[in-house]
Amino acid sequence: MTSLAVSDHQTETATPAKAIQPVWVRMVHWINAFAMLLMIMSGWQIYNASPLFGFTFSRSITLGGWLGGALLWHFAAMWLLMVNGLIYLALGFATGRFRKKLLPITPGGVIADTKAALTFKLSHDDLSKYNSVQKLLYTGIITVGVVIVLSGLSMWKPVQLHWLVSLFGGYDIARYVHFTCMALIVAFLVIHVALALLVPKSLRAMIIGR
Ligand code: HEM
Repeated sequence: MTSLAVSDHQTETATPAKAIQPVWVRMVHWINAFAMLLMIMSGWQIYNASPLFGFTFSRSITLGGWLGGALLWHFAAMWLLMVNGLIYLALGFATGRFRKKLLPITPGGVIADTKAALTFKLSHDDLSKYNSVQKLLYTGIITVGVVIVLSGLSMWKPVQLHWLVSLFGGYDIARYVHFTCMALIVAFLVIHVALALLVPKSLRAMIIGR
């Protein structure tokens, strides 16, 4: 009996604790953050060549130097973003991560957790579970990520992918959709990075797993 208890204990201590963020999530997350940054900064330079609105982005925060250079950056980073995104989506569904970590999202849960977050009462003790606000934000940004790639593809190959252009209601609307998704991603990033800095152990888990 005693020896069984000892061997159980040994097995327990010999097995490393399960990572809060598995290695594949961490890898695709940081590759995605890098690719997004390249896409956003080169995208701003492309926008400057033919602005949709009455403003342009400062050259100091754009990438590529001019329209041609920015397009090269945008199309290069596009492959990284798309392949990495497809791996994340495939593994997210195949491993059941999306179902387990991002669902269910209920209006009641979102309202309660938003109230708790605004009054600094939201618990961050168990990092392995996302609260309803996180679930909503992550599911939302994944959807926005899919839409920005699809609208981008429709503008890249409007002849071959004419059905995709039609789905967006035309080339000009696809441009506005693409810009709106960029704005949503930038807004998400500001909140997301601020929250990661406010709860540094969540950032640590996204870097080293624990
Ligand atoms: C420097 C930039 C970034 C930092 C510091 C950062 C930090 C983090 C951290 C700490 C987590 C874990 C959240 C938690 O445990 O509460 C996380 C998860 C996540 N982040 Fe980021 N992030 C960054 C950029 C991005 C970008 C650009 C996107 C997408 C546009 C993104 C999308 C996500 C998603 C979807 C998750 C949930 C992943 C999952 O559980 O499958 N992040 N991020």
